[in-house]
Formats: sequence, structure tokens, C-alpha cells
Amino acid sequence: MKGFNTLSVHAGELRDKRFGNIITPIFLNATFLTPNDTDNAYIDKISGKPFLYTRNGNPTIQALEEKYASLENAKYGLSFSSGMSAISSSLLSILKNGDKVLTIYELYGQTLNFFLNLLPNYGVKVDFISIDKLNELDMISEKCKLIYVESITNPKLKVADLESLGKLTKDLGIYLVVDATFASPYNQRPLEFNASISIHSGTKYIVGHNDVTIGFASFNSEELYKTIAEKRKMFGGVPDPLQAYLALRGMKTLGLRVERQNYNALEVAKFLENHSKVKGVYYPGLQSSPYFSIAKRVLKGFGAVVSFEVKSEECATKVLKNVKVIQAAPSLGGVESLITRPVDTSHSSIPEEIKKALNITPELLRLSVGIEDVEDLIEDLDKALSSCA
Ligand SMILES: Cc1ncc(COP(=O)(O)O)c(C=O)c1O
Repeated sequence: MKGFNTLSVHAGELRDKRFGNIITPIFLNATFLTPNDTDNAYIDKISGKPFLYTRNGNPTIQALEEKYASLENAKYGLSFSSGMSAISSSLLSILKNGDKVLTIYELYGQTLNFFLNLLPNYGVKVDFISIDKLNELDMISEKCKLIYVESITNPKLKVADLESLGKLTKDLGIYLVVDATFASPYNQRPLEFNASISIHSGTKYIVGHNDVTIGFASFNSEELYKTIAEKRKMFGGVPDPLQAYLALRGMKTLGLRVERQNYNALEVAKFLENHSKVKGVYYPGLQSSPYFSIAKRVLKGFGAVVSFEVKSEECATKVLKNVKVIQAAPSLGGVESLITRPVDTSHSSIPEEIKKALNITPELLRLSVGIEDVEDLIEDLDKALSSCA
């Protein structure tokens, strides 16, 4: 495998010497010449034939998927209209009536909704356990067909032990599906731990500029790739070529951005840990984190997201209002630092009992650290925290 940044820049690019183009063109075509009996017609890798219709395949989207797969060190990659489309299309392609799934409580809200409220309608039984229990590996039976996990959870930044889970699911011969959105392919590549599918909300780090909604999945199994590509055609959740182009462009700087974010976030987490107005900090890169030793084994860097609790709900409101460089908004992984209160945003629709069990309180803030100068971010947070009593 060539270096991550070399692949980010060059892998997958559709360069044609007849034009001499360096950058992949945007093929804004819904449809293509068919039949196309041109010699050396460019081939859609999914169908093995010339391109036919963009919902089935498109040259810009194919370039994007090749670049993405190379960054995941995967044989195959697919892109989707959103992260949720990647999750729902992948799972609905594999699961059927009578199957059992094991997953964690700490899921992203809409994914939790999908497991709680949609899969059971199709006869799929879903068992939930805490990520800590899953890491202990004593709850898993070969009777379940699939384990679904988020490699770093939101908003408490708990880390899944993919090393152990990958070994175990391989031994049991069951699927391991990992949403690695909070890690990014720079910090973690789940297929290297034997995951069957790695999934990303590309809306976050991969695109990195808070301007595109997109999703990705990667595989080493040709069968999974073909099955899910076929279902994507049926469900219709492909990105459009313009969206694909913007994602392709954002991806070129993924390694540079995430390296800087890893550094900035660790500095910010250390600052918050020592701040008198802060009650607790959640960041797997802190030595005080209970997930530090797992994180060191399964992550190259600890990511951009730092959550912290302040002393009162009122203080949390003041911080959101008084930050100036940092913007109060949900989402994460982009170049801009964003701060949000999970109870108002990502966790607003999570069932109360789960929110309570996970201890997600109105005093909890989640910060996604961008690529700004870290001194400015620390100064901004310090000033905003100083408005608290
Ligand atoms: C961990 C995780 N998975 C999936 C999603 C869904 O992604 P999208 O918003 O691109 O559909 C999100 C969105 O925030 C997320 O945080």
C-alpha cells in the first residue's frame, strides 16, 4: 500500500491523456449511450459493461469509490447518498426474516431508530448491550448473524475493541459491521481488523468541509460488494455526480486534516481536563480515559471529537452562546470547530431511558475540533467558560 496521502491525492483519479486532465471530470449524465459498442469503452466495474444509467454507475462516482477503497485498504468501495443510506442499504442487503443481530446502545440516533423500530418489522431480532460488555466478549453467541458496532461512540467517545471483536467474529463465522465515522479511515481501517464491512458518514471527516452529505461502505468480499451494489440500485441511494466530485476533492486532504485535528483535539482535551469550570472530559487520547489502552491498540490517532461536562445546564448554554471562533452547530470532522449540546441535537430523539442509562445530560457538550490554530481555540473556550459562575 502506498502512503495514505499519496493515495488520497492520486488513487482512483480518472485521467485521460487525450484531454490531459489532472482532475477527474464531473460526469453530469443521468444516462449514457446504449448500446455502446465503441472499442475500449470505459467500463462500469459493477456491471462489467459500459456505463448505462447513473443510479447503476457513473465514472465520477466510480473514481470516488476507488479512491475511498484505497484509503480503507479495501478491495471494494461503494458510495451512497448519505451515511444513513450506506447503513440501511448494507444491512437490508444482508439481513432477512429470522436473523438475529447484536449491537450496542450507544448508537448514532437514526441508526438506533433503524435497529429499534425498523428491523423488527421485517422479522429481524435485535439485541442491545453496552459497548463495555461487547468489549468483554462474554455475551456473544454464534446464533447471531451480525454484530454491528460504532468504533468510537457518540458523545461519550467509548472505543470498541475491534482487535478482539474481529478475531471473535472471524472464529464464529459471523459478520462484523463497523461504523467508523468517528475514527475516519486515517485513524482506523476496520477491514484490517477482519470487519466484513466498514461504514462511514462521509459527511464528516471524509468530505471534511461541512458542505456535502454522503456515505461510504467498503468490503474485501466480492459477494458483499456485488450484493450491496445491486440493492443500492434498487433502493436508489447513490450520490449524484456533483456530490461525488466534491467528496473526491475533499478526500484529497483527509490525512492532512485529520493529523492536525488529532493534534488540536488532544491539546484541547488536556486544557479542558485542567479547567476549573469543567467537571469531566471524554477523550480516548487522554491517559485518564478508561478507553486509552484500547484506543492505542486500534486507532492511529484519537480523532477530533472531545466531549466535556460543565457544572450546570446554565453554564453549557453560556458556552454555546459565547464561543466566537468555534461555531455552535451539530456534525463533526470538518475544518471548522463546532460545538453542540447532544441533548438538543444528536440525542434529542433518543428514548429517555437510553439517554438516562448513558448519562447524557444537559451539562454535556460535544466539541468537534477543526484545523484552526489551537491557541485560538483554547482562548475561545477559556473566554466562553469564564462566563460561567
Ligand atoms: C456515527 C454516525 N453514523 C452515521 C451517521 C449518519 O450519517 P449521514 O448524516 O451522512 O446520513 C452519523 C451522522 O451524524 C453519525 O454520526
